[in-house]
Amino acid sequence: MKEQWSPNSWRLKPAKHLPIYKDEDVLNNALDKIKKFPPLVFAGEARSLKSRLSDVSKGKAFLLQGGDCAESFADFHPDNIKNTFKVILQMAVVLTFGASCPIVKVGRIAGQFAKPRSSDKETINGVELESYKGDIINGINFTKVDRSPDPARLIQAYNQSASTLNLLRAFSQGGYANLNKIHQWNLNFVEEEKANKFSEIADRIDECLAFMKACGINDNNVRQINETEFFTSHEALLLEYEEALTRIDSTSGKWYDVSAHMLWVGDRTRQLDGAHIEFVRGIENPIGIKIGPTTDENELLKIIDYVNPDNEGGKITLICRMGADKIDNHLPKIVKKIKSEGRAVIWACDPMHGNTIKSNTGYKTRPVSNIFSEIQKFFAIHRSLGSYPGGIHLEMTGSDVTECMGGLQQITDEDLKNRYHTFCDPRLNASQSIEIAFLISEYLKDDKFLSLKSSQI
Ligand code: PEP
Ligand code: CO
Repeated sequence: MKEQWSPNSWRLKPAKHLPIYKDEDVLNNALDKIKKFPPLVFAGEARSLKSRLSDVSKGKAFLLQGGDCAESFADFHPDNIKNTFKVILQMAVVLTFGASCPIVKVGRIAGQFAKPRSSDKETINGVELESYKGDIINGINFTKVDRSPDPARLIQAYNQSASTLNLLRAFSQGGYANLNKIHQWNLNFVEEEKANKFSEIADRIDECLAFMKACGINDNNVRQINETEFFTSHEALLLEYEEALTRIDSTSGKWYDVSAHMLWVGDRTRQLDGAHIEFVRGIENPIGIKIGPTTDENELLKIIDYVNPDNEGGKITLICRMGADKIDNHLPKIVKKIKSEGRAVIWACDPMHGNTIKSNTGYKTRPVSNIFSEIQKFFAIHRSLGSYPGGIHLEMTGSDVTECMGGLQQITDEDLKNRYHTFCDPRLNASQSIEIAFLISEYLKDDKFLSLKSSQI
């Protein structure tokens, strides 16, 4: 029989990647405040997302999830939020148009602060300090003060998430996302070829809207023209914070983590008997589980059954982050197992985390060619096994950064230093993100990908 669950039952399990706070009283004080703060999202919204994701699990929609690797206090600016939102809207339009299916938009935003690190400590010139673990935990500067986990950061992260969500809600429901404004979403630094291709789609949408208007269908009477649905997500890493925002929903009487619509468990914390899986199994939100080359399909099946015992569609998204060179060896056996056992999951591709390298100039980067290659292989594997490649999970930004090499802008190793702004992993810029949307829209079009040769990718 399943053990009793409560928002703090994770505390009885082994937990990886959680910080140690110097003063428990200061931490508990901050958590007590957060427990009284208003929810950031409503349970009903998380239910709507689950229902959209249930369509994805049936192959009737596609999940587009993306945003920063790590949000930061320093980069908190309306332009950054707006540009990321804009590029996700543009990608969604490209995908909707290409694939003729609804796109479920989920940002890695408004709460994506805590980071698991490969090493707990960092040493520079013989000085050893705690690694940077995301702005909700400690600071990025290499000083003892900055690197000490500080509970005041929990409150700041909550406040920043609330303001970010406020703006995102205004953008998605206040008219900014109106399809009649599609031309205004263009970002002028998007590489010309893709910008032109996007303008062509925008022109065709204009024509459709003019036709619909002539038929009496317009943004006054059709909500879908005037607004869009946009959901938030982040890694449920810092369990103290997630626990403080886990509440019983008065409508359903069930537990929801109201820090975001969707939460995921990272590749480093997805142990079946660990604290993170324990936490997410008790909440009703849609849950992502990252899977990588070390994932064992039998253990994964147990995790899925533990988190989703009723096999509810839309509940679990498996976010596959294998790496372009490993996906062929690792993904097929996992897909075969989960499919043969009849589990309803969404298969999403994270082509970022398995393709990180150190460039010759010393930057952590990701070659766009490898990102493309993993996506192509992901689609090919699913089609060959008769399962549906239902989503994409990207680290991206609407800003014109130079963090990933390649793409139509041909960012070279030498260019990386120009605008390398990430607080953690390298992100796709707007131009590279839109290139990927065009690539995927080709794959999503009726089996067309089968005829695409890798030379074209
Ligand atoms: C992330 O999504 O930023 C991350 C740390 O990913 P993963 O758990 O897949 O390594
Ligand atoms: Co990352």
